[in-house]
Amino acid sequence: MHSTKNFIFYLLPLFAPFQLCYSAANQPNTATSSVVLPVTGNVYPTGYYHATVNIGNPPKSYFLDIDTGSDLTWLQCDAPCIKCTPAPHKLYKPKKDLVACMDPLCTSIHYPETHQCQSPKEQCDYTVQYADDGSSIGVLVKDSFSFQYINGTVAKSLLAFGCGYNQEVPASMVPPYTDGILGLGLGKASILYQLRELGVTRSVVGHCLSAQGGGYLFFGDELVPSSGVVWTPMSTTEIEKHYSLGSAELFLGGKTSRLKGLPIVFDSGSTYTYFTAEAYKALLSMLTNDIKGKKVYIANEDKSLPVCWKGSKPFKSIYDVKNLFEPIILKFKKSKLQLDPEAYLIISENGNACLGILNGSEVGLENINVIGDISFQDKIIIYDNEKQQIGWTPANCNRLPNINDDDGDGDPDSARLCKPYGSNLGILQPYCTA
Ligand SMILES: *[C@@H]1O[C@H](CO)[C@@H](O)[C@H](O)[C@H]1NC(C)=O
Ligand SMILES: *[C@@H]1O[C@H](CO)[C@@H](O)[C@H](O)[C@H]1NC(C)=O
Repeated sequence: MHSTKNFIFYLLPLFAPFQLCYSAANQPNTATSSVVLPVTGNVYPTGYYHATVNIGNPPKSYFLDIDTGSDLTWLQCDAPCIKCTPAPHKLYKPKKDLVACMDPLCTSIHYPETHQCQSPKEQCDYTVQYADDGSSIGVLVKDSFSFQYINGTVAKSLLAFGCGYNQEVPASMVPPYTDGILGLGLGKASILYQLRELGVTRSVVGHCLSAQGGGYLFFGDELVPSSGVVWTPMSTTEIEKHYSLGSAELFLGGKTSRLKGLPIVFDSGSTYTYFTAEAYKALLSMLTNDIKGKKVYIANEDKSLPVCWKGSKPFKSIYDVKNLFEPIILKFKKSKLQLDPEAYLIISENGNACLGILNGSEVGLENINVIGDISFQDKIIIYDNEKQQIGWTPANCNRLPNINDDDGDGDPDSARLCKPYGSNLGILQPYCTA
């Protein structure tokens, strides 16, 4: 039996390899369309969600791990490859279209180091190192990405990304079975920034990850629900290189931990949620106190995750424990993020409930609390760089949301969404029966 520790990823770049940033005040982007991509994967046991992205001419499909914690998109690449991990598709074969060393995009991935180019024709090399000790070395190239607008039209955009020919994975870890990483951070190298520059979509990204597995990802603001979203301003003062929400106070149920000022970052590249050692300790002690007398006991024999609890008989699903655990609440200045038991517990193969909030100190995350996929399940999470805010709302991620009613007839344009996707995406079937 394997340890699921092998399937934990926390993709946050270690360095700050890009410049900030753009505010809504720079060049308004008038694009109003959105593109949507199907997502596959789950928190447990797979450990990650990937989007299917079509790249090249003619387009080929690649599975890319969705990572809002880093900027650079890269594909395992036959440049030739020095070290690549097993992947679902053939290695990407680069064309001759290289990003030059002098290109501002190249400068941005090297920031804040000074970046020198010997000759104008020199290529742009990159190295990205992630918080989990994985890394990719390669060269920046350009190729055509085919994205499907929600009206069904396919738009091709020439985007820069990494051709990664040397990937390192920590020895303790089984690498995700993907072709690369889809970097959706807020830096200039991000495809989000590039799509905005090209006028394709606004710099808004959203994901809806289903607890049953799968879901969807979108760029642009057309799929942002017009009501019910809780918005929190992005923090511009701290840890600017990440999607940061500023600081929060930690509660379990109605009770405060008395811990305030906990900096919170959203990172879809992380399977689980990580708290700082202090917050983790406080949470564990509150949970332990809270479940006293509820007939759940520590299950040290279950190594699925560091802390597991067993009941008098094995739990079959999260619904068996939903009433035993209180919601965790992160309270921001003007909003709160509620994590119900399903957003912080998994049911292991052994039928125990295991805590999906881990001790960040153990993996070198000292000062930030990273909210990962487990806590994003069955919610739409929206990172709006145009308005510098992050939003969330509960959702059924097995179908696309009703889009804003732009034609004023009171009905969402279901026909418009339904037709092009019924066959292609496989996520609209339930919606289309309406
Ligand atoms: C779909 O939307 C795109 C972007 O707004 C537009 O260029 C295209 O013409 C639209 N296609 C159809 C069939 O309406
Ligand atoms: C969290 O990790 C740190 C560093 O490994 C360790 O010192 C601390 O005891 C851990 N906290 C808990 C509650 O396990």
